[in-house]
Amino acid sequence: MTSEDLTHHGDKDTAPGMLDFAVNVWLPAPPRWLRDRLAAALDRLATYPSAADDVSAREAVAARHGRRADEVLVLNGSAEGFALLPNLEPRLAAVVHPSFTEPEVALRNAGVPVHRVLLDGDYVLRPELVPDEADMVVIGNPTNPTSVTHPAELIRKLARPGRLLVVDEAFMDALPGEPETLTGDPDVLVFRSLTKTWALAGLRAGYVLGPKPTLEKLAWDRPQWPVGTLVLEAVQACCEPAAVAEAAAAAEKALEYKDEFVAALKNVPGVEIVVEPSAPFVLIRVPDGRKTRETLRERGIAVRRGETFPGLSVDHVRLAVRPPAETARLLSAWPVEVA
Ligand SMILES: Cc1ncc(COP(=O)(O)O)c(C=O)c1O
Repeated sequence: MTSEDLTHHGDKDTAPGMLDFAVNVWLPAPPRWLRDRLAAALDRLATYPSAADDVSAREAVAARHGRRADEVLVLNGSAEGFALLPNLEPRLAAVVHPSFTEPEVALRNAGVPVHRVLLDGDYVLRPELVPDEADMVVIGNPTNPTSVTHPAELIRKLARPGRLLVVDEAFMDALPGEPETLTGDPDVLVFRSLTKTWALAGLRAGYVLGPKPTLEKLAWDRPQWPVGTLVLEAVQACCEPAAVAEAAAAAEKALEYKDEFVAALKNVPGVEIVVEPSAPFVLIRVPDGRKTRETLRERGIAVRRGETFPGLSVDHVRLAVRPPAETARLLSAWPVEVA
């Protein structure tokens, strides 16, 4: 067992009506065109999800990433894919932390030995910390919650014969141009999510790219019709060129907001930017994290606690990047008296 509550996620730090800096979903609701696509797909719900819909979704993903359709598996969110990781029967999984905790939860629950690779300082990957015996290495890129993007070349250094690299790229589409993505590397298992960019947390939609035999082993015990028609429709829609262009524009906007947010945070007494963020969330450290969180909560603002991430403390707080008007509300409510 572990000392942190690994099943804690940002949604538990917020509540209806609060100004939400805890959950990293970019939009308040899916865009109109996507809602229309999903609404039109409702007409197909009388039948089971069709093989044709599955192929169309996988082909759209494949085209988006320059891969083959048989190198794609559509998922009920990348979290479902993490829950399937034990099917690959790793003997020792190295999980790079601090990072999103669901892969470790799934591996531990299945009895897979987990070695934590704990980064600190600049939180950049140090390949020498990964034990040679690890036949699976799990890493997030960009990493939640540190907001660090590891160079793809550095992650590739972890490759060994007989070792599978698992990369959680849930936030990669939030970076303009998706630098450092490993979606083009045929031997790597890369998880992508629709949740963050498209405000689809409630739908559960994502996919994984990887070698066909690995995907077959990953998915061997999934039930018939593992994902629904609406998930297939969403995956197809969000991988089409117009959607990819829209996501890229949103990523540019997020970058702009982030830079303004970081500049403003640097002037807040007591706030330390832990590392210069690359993704649309910022990891900070404050003198009294619990008090800061509670005071903000009393003022109607939710932030993500840090201590449930291995390697972080109660004084770490993760803040989502939001539009300037919301950021201004956060900054004016900031409890400087706690500093
Ligand atoms: C880094 C990271 N990966 C994956 C997920 C889960 O994504 P999905 O909604 O696709 O299951 C999250 C959700 O918070 C996340 O932060």
